Amino acid sequence: MIVNLSQIHQIESVAQSPFYLCDDAVFGINYDRIVAAFSARWPQMILAYSYKTNYIPWLCRLIRDKGGWAEVVSRLEYELALKVGQDPARIIFNGPVKSADDIELALLNNSIVNLDSAAEIDHLLRYAQTHPDSLIPVGLRINMGLSDANGCSQIQNQLPVSRFGFSPAGPEMMQLKQRLQAIPNCQVVSLHGHTSTSSRSLACYQTITRTLCEMAEWHFPQTVQYINIGGGMFGDVPPEMGFADVPTFDQYAAAVGEVLQASDWAAANKPTLVVEPGIAMSANVISLVTRVIGIKTIQNRTLVTVDASVFHTKPTQHSRNQPWTLIPADESARSSGVFSVVGSTCMEKDYLLTDVSGPLPQVGDYIRIGQAGAYTVVMSPPFINPAPAIVAPHGENFKIIRTRQTLDDMFKNYHF
Ligand SMILES: Cc1ncc(COP(=O)(O)O)c(C=O)c1O
Repeated sequence: MIVNLSQIHQIESVAQSPFYLCDDAVFGINYDRIVAAFSARWPQMILAYSYKTNYIPWLCRLIRDKGGWAEVVSRLEYELALKVGQDPARIIFNGPVKSADDIELALLNNSIVNLDSAAEIDHLLRYAQTHPDSLIPVGLRINMGLSDANGCSQIQNQLPVSRFGFSPAGPEMMQLKQRLQAIPNCQVVSLHGHTSTSSRSLACYQTITRTLCEMAEWHFPQTVQYINIGGGMFGDVPPEMGFADVPTFDQYAAAVGEVLQASDWAAANKPTLVVEPGIAMSANVISLVTRVIGIKTIQNRTLVTVDASVFHTKPTQHSRNQPWTLIPADESARSSGVFSVVGSTCMEKDYLLTDVSGPLPQVGDYIRIGQAGAYTVVMSPPFINPAPAIVAPHGENFKIIRTRQTLDDMFKNYHF
């Protein structure tokens, strides 16, 4: 999506800088590409969009319209899915903290609930006792051990173990089975293995898929209908972000399909494969437009101050520079140089871009920073300034899909 200066001025007149641009067409394309890749390898597949990654209702609604599923991890997200008109039977409720009430609501609605802990089995037991005549389908999240060929953990941040789900082996598994067998009207229909890794490698997906198929075959061969490998895949990542070995959707799908086809249990039972992409669906959908407010040089370093902050583009404050473009406010020539883009907060480490080279911005120019769609809008509470508007350009027009926050919005829950 190309946006020119006159469109920016038009948007700014109603939305004020900084603002997000949402390319909803790209969101739809990401959905179609992921579904095409996986269904070519395993026709029974479902894409359940990971709400937590970016739950802008406008995007959640597009998922509903495309017949996609919602993957939620809290009551708030569950209720949001209902509010956007998502069919409750197409909601997957994950997450480590679900109350008895949450589980009851989701089960009554025929949503898929993937249980994560012994406390949730307690809730299930009580629900089953109060609904003795219903057959209750549930899912289990399985804890994944993922290490590379050298035995190094692949779990995010190289943590030694994942904290989610039930251990797939040893006495914990036996205890779990005993507890489930004591609930005669419950049936395990889904096994879930999402595991966030730093590498997002094909090998991790193969291990997850293989482990889930083995668990199904060994423990619940007659009842499992869903093999849910979770999200965590790379999407389209521009080379300047410096990631090595970024698999394509086709490569992920081929790696997973190969394991499913090699499993006798999967070949015979044809489970539905579930993927829950978040980053791969949303990162390249949103960019931030921010206005250049000042330029200064301190000890030979050029610092370009803008009216947005690092929390708008990368609240996790990772060290990678996202792709960016300069939208000059006039036609005068710009010299080239190395500079950093610093934000509107009073934090020293408020760097949106660090030591990038290109045309040197001038006051009044705009900088557009891409790859700002995953874990940004949802993870950046207003800090010092209100949350920016989100705008979806459609040809010459645009639609405001979130208005800029006001002082009253920000403080309405406070007691003065
Ligand atoms: C259960 C579950 N599914 C899907 C995702 C989406 O992961 P990503 O945004 O990396 O694709 C997450 C993220 O943590 C998750 O916890």
